[in-house]
Amino acid sequence: MSQTAVTPKNIVLIGFMGSGKSTVGRELHQRLGYPLIDTDRSIEESTGKKITEIFKEEGEAVFRDLETSKLVEIEKQADKRQIVSTGGGVVIRPENRSLLRKIGYVVWLQVPEDVVYERTSRNQERPLLNHMDARERISKLLAEREPWYRETAHLKIDTAGLDFKEIATGILESARYHFTHSE
Ligand code: S3P
Repeated sequence: MSQTAVTPKNIVLIGFMGSGKSTVGRELHQRLGYPLIDTDRSIEESTGKKITEIFKEEGEAVFRDLETSKLVEIEKQADKRQIVSTGGGVVIRPENRSLLRKIGYVVWLQVPEDVVYERTSRNQERPLLNHMDARERISKLLAEREPWYRETAHLKIDTAGLDFKEIATGILESARYHFTHSE
């Protein structure tokens, strides 16, 4: 890294649907005072459409393009102290995986399949799981995506048995170490 480059101190949350990225993101935002960017919400704001509408009317590929554009935008931003919470499928594309690591310290919130099912079955806002066989789809997608989360993350947190505050504390401690040793 050149001497003039600014080391990003962004914290990026990745993980499967229902892993708690948004809640942990809000907790980190409150504790650090860094702005919070939720890529899904940000896509909804810029398109004026809900994620479910984008999937239904334009298809998943269009949503994935919007997701990549959002990461490109974040990577270029001058503010390098932000909390970035992402959608569960952000790791599918190799270009996104490398963008995420350029954006900042990537934390994977790992969550057991049962917890995903329990949390995601409460609402209909996740187009990929609005199916009769939601449980099977969770299982399949989790198996497919785990290697990508692993490859992308600087830190993996096994969230089973931890509450959101404990998870945030773990992230902050590790991030502090990472940032002071990467300058
Ligand atoms: C998706 C996860 C969702 C959202 C979209 C697709 C996925 O975000 O981006 O429905 O492919 O896993 P959450 O992980 O916040 O539910």
